[in-house]
Amino acid sequence: MNQPYAVTAEFYDLLQAEDQLAVVDRLADRWFGTPRVGVLDVGAGTGLATFRFAQRCDLPLHAVEPSASMRSVLLSRLATRPDIRPRVRVHAAGIQELGLRAVADFGWCLNTMGGLDAGARRRALAALAEALVPGGVAVVQRPPATACDGRRGLPSVELGGDVYTGDVTSAPVGSAGVRWCFRYRVVRDGELVRQETETFDGHLVSEERFDAELRAAGLTPTGADSPDVVVVRRVGVGTLRPE
Ligand SMILES: C[S@@+](CC[C@H](N)C(=O)[O-])C[C@H]1O[C@@H](n2cnc3c(N)ncnc32)[C@H](O)[C@@H]1O
Repeated sequence: MNQPYAVTAEFYDLLQAEDQLAVVDRLADRWFGTPRVGVLDVGAGTGLATFRFAQRCDLPLHAVEPSASMRSVLLSRLATRPDIRPRVRVHAAGIQELGLRAVADFGWCLNTMGGLDAGARRRALAALAEALVPGGVAVVQRPPATACDGRRGLPSVELGGDVYTGDVTSAPVGSAGVRWCFRYRVVRDGELVRQETETFDGHLVSEERFDAELRAAGLTPTGADSPDVVVVRRVGVGTLRPE
């Protein structure tokens, strides 16, 4: 069986980086502040946000990315940046397997929680809290609360005369799940050259339940943003960050 993101990694930046970076920049402008300890990117993917954070501060960065396919894009990006490399530690496992302690006062986890089942989510949130210093802040995208049948197109990008494009369909699975199917297409002169697909399963969690899970992990919700973002603060004394 293929590893998760084995197909998607090839197309992720080409088709999704522009939209994703617009979200990263908007959220970071509002919530990044002035960290003083370090920055933690949970589910760093191809490193889009990690690199933005490296431009915003001179602190150590922890990029947590278990998928070898996504990580290889991140590492290729780092390969050409000797100025940033000494500060970025790449962790090749899920956050819940790392045992990071108090390495950051700014955490980030976008587009990742929805893929974790209840047990993995509980461990991941506990590990995120442990990785933050008391008073540290994290921007976390909630898992989806609902699912319905739908389809949306991905952008079309021209590359050497070929058009790279695709779409995502979503469908409910039972009462608490969702399945996303990503189809990527390469089209030349109107003819399909190749098509690749990858399917991901997600887990639905109501806002109230996710807030309760955050609190149980020692993360207090303090703010909200879109898309489905909750801003949390790690409980405990020793706040290093201004409000
Ligand atoms: C949809 S991608 C999003 C990547 C990036 N955050 C972005 O928004 O562009 C989700 C990423 O989370 C990673 N991931 C999945 N489970 C994880 C876990 N337990 N800890 C850290 N990362 C995880 C996946 O390998 C994948 O690269």
